[in-house]
Amino acid sequence: MKELDLVALQEAFDRKLKNEIRIEPKDWMPDAYRKTLIRQISQHAHSEIVGMLPEGNWITRAPNLRRKAVLLAKVQDEAGHGQYLYSAMETLGFSREQSIDDLHSGKAKYSSIFNYPTLTWADMGAVGWLVDGAAIMNQVPLCRTSYGPYARAMVRVCKEESFHQRQGYEIMCTLMKGTEAQKAMAQDALNRFWWPSLMMFGPSDAESTHTQQSIDWKIKRHTNDELRQMFVNASVPQAELIGLTIPDPDLKWNEARGEYDFGAIDWEEFKQVVSGNGPCNAERIAARVKAKENGMWVREAAMAHAEKKKIKKAS
Ligand SMILES: [Fe+2]
Ligand SMILES: [Fe+2]
Repeated sequence: MKELDLVALQEAFDRKLKNEIRIEPKDWMPDAYRKTLIRQISQHAHSEIVGMLPEGNWITRAPNLRRKAVLLAKVQDEAGHGQYLYSAMETLGFSREQSIDDLHSGKAKYSSIFNYPTLTWADMGAVGWLVDGAAIMNQVPLCRTSYGPYARAMVRVCKEESFHQRQGYEIMCTLMKGTEAQKAMAQDALNRFWWPSLMMFGPSDAESTHTQQSIDWKIKRHTNDELRQMFVNASVPQAELIGLTIPDPDLKWNEARGEYDFGAIDWEEFKQVVSGNGPCNAERIAARVKAKENGMWVREAAMAHAEKKKIKKAS
C-alpha cells in the first residue's frame, strides 16, 4: 500500500474514534488495534467458558429445585456469552479453532478467578455476587467500546450478568438469615473470594502495560484501578447490609475522597495464578481438553452430514 493511502486510512480511523463512531469488521484498522482486540476478546470468551466449570460443579448439589434451575440458567448464560464473544473475535479474522487451541496449550489466558475451587454451596453465592459483580464493573463500560461487534455483544451480556449478580447476592442474603453454621459458611466464602475478586481487575495501573493504549483506542474506558475502586465502593455496603465482614483490616471509608481505602493486594499470588500455578489451573484446562475430545464425534458427524447434503443438492 502506498504511504499516502496509509496516512489517509489512519486519519479516517482516528476521526471515527474521536467522533465515537464504531469501528466495524470491514473497516481499516491498525494491526496493533486488531491484535489487542483479538487478545482481549478471546481472553474474555475463554473466561466465560472456563467460568462455567466452578459453578457447573454445584448444579447436581444445589439445595433445592429452584436453586438448581437458577444456577443451571446462569451457567447456560455463560456458555452463550462465550459463543457471542468467539463470534465477535472471528470478525477480526482469527479462527475459533486456533483460539481454543491456544487456550488448551496455555498460550492464551483467561480470568485468574476461575482457578480457585468452589468448596461449599455458599461459594455459589460469593461467585455470583462478587465475580459476576466484578464482571459487570468491567463490562458495562465495554458496551461503549470502539469495536462494534464487541460493544453490541456486551449489551445482552451485561443484562444477564446483572441477573447473575443478584442470584448470588440472594444466596448470601438467605444464608445470612439462616443458622450460625450457614452464616459461617457465607463468611468463609467471602473470605476466600474477596481478594481474588479484586485481582480480577488485573494489575495496578502502574504495572499495566496495555492500559494507556487501550484507553486511547477507546477499547477501555476506565483503568484497572478505577474499576477496582468502583467495585469496592459498591460491594462494601452490600456486605454490611447483611452482616458480612470484608476480610480486610485496612478497609475504611475515606471522607475526603468519598471512597473506601483498602489494603494491599497480594500480587505475588496473582502472578502465580496467572502463570498457571493457581489451585485449579491444571484441572480447568484438563476439563476443557476432555470436553473437546468428547465432542469430536458430534463435530465429525455434523461435517459428514453437511457434506452429504451438499452432494445430494448438487446431484
Ligand atoms: Fe458471563
Ligand atoms: Fe455471569
